Amino acid sequence: MNVIVIIPAAGLGTRMAAASGARVVAAASKQFTELDGVPILVHTLRKFVAVLQVSEIYLALRPSEAAGYQPRLAQEKLGKPVRVVEGGEHRQQSVAHALAAVKAAPDDVILVHDAVRPLVDPEIIQNVIDAAVRHGAAIAAVPAVDTIKQVERTAEGAVIRATIPRAQIVMAQTPQGFRYDVLKKAFAEAEADGFTGTDEASLVERSGHEVFVVMGSTRNIKITTPADLELAEFFLKHSS
Ligand code: C5P
Repeated sequence: MNVIVIIPAAGLGTRMAAASGARVVAAASKQFTELDGVPILVHTLRKFVAVLQVSEIYLALRPSEAAGYQPRLAQEKLGKPVRVVEGGEHRQQSVAHALAAVKAAPDDVILVHDAVRPLVDPEIIQNVIDAAVRHGAAIAAVPAVDTIKQVERTAEGAVIRATIPRAQIVMAQTPQGFRYDVLKKAFAEAEADGFTGTDEASLVERSGHEVFVVMGSTRNIKITTPADLELAEFFLKHSS
């Protein structure tokens, strides 16, 4: 059984740019912003290369960024094949492009991980792989600590329509891991139905396959805003 990793890294980082105003960080997509002198994407790649069972990595990049980034990747000497595919307009399209390029057996495991979650730890990756092998589909997630409200947006502002019991809520992270046949079927069905989700699990759920949850980490943050970058710098400094 092989483990193949897909890393969607074709986002524009508009929330990072919007929050940082004229700062230089706005010029680069967030996955190329440096953390401790190393691009966020390279931190992420190193985490997955280090996992023994991982055989290869598919990286979805914007065409305008791919050419410029190849020399940086080569310089990194990651030791496992990193195949670059063209990113899409949405995250789901970026993952679909990678999935179309993947050659795998039905029971191989495909892990999908956000380029901008460089602080994922090896234990979480391993737990997701093990649960995906066992159940066919598994994601990392953390319990909700805030009370979750369902709202309706009105002209006057947001109005609460329901309070969702917190014990029933987890916040999805990545990695998300699936048996290849399970993920292929879910993507084919989503495409046929014109469904777009914000993560892979939502496609697999609607495909009728149960998705199991393993414990993620509050350190496994998705770097979205300049404040997240500061938090990631802090975590990185205090983990070494
Ligand atoms: O901003 P968002 O939450 O969608 O980003 C999650 C991940 O998906 C990031 O690693 C980002 O680079 C990636 N992405 C992508 N293609 C897009 C949009 C986002 O690969 N069109």
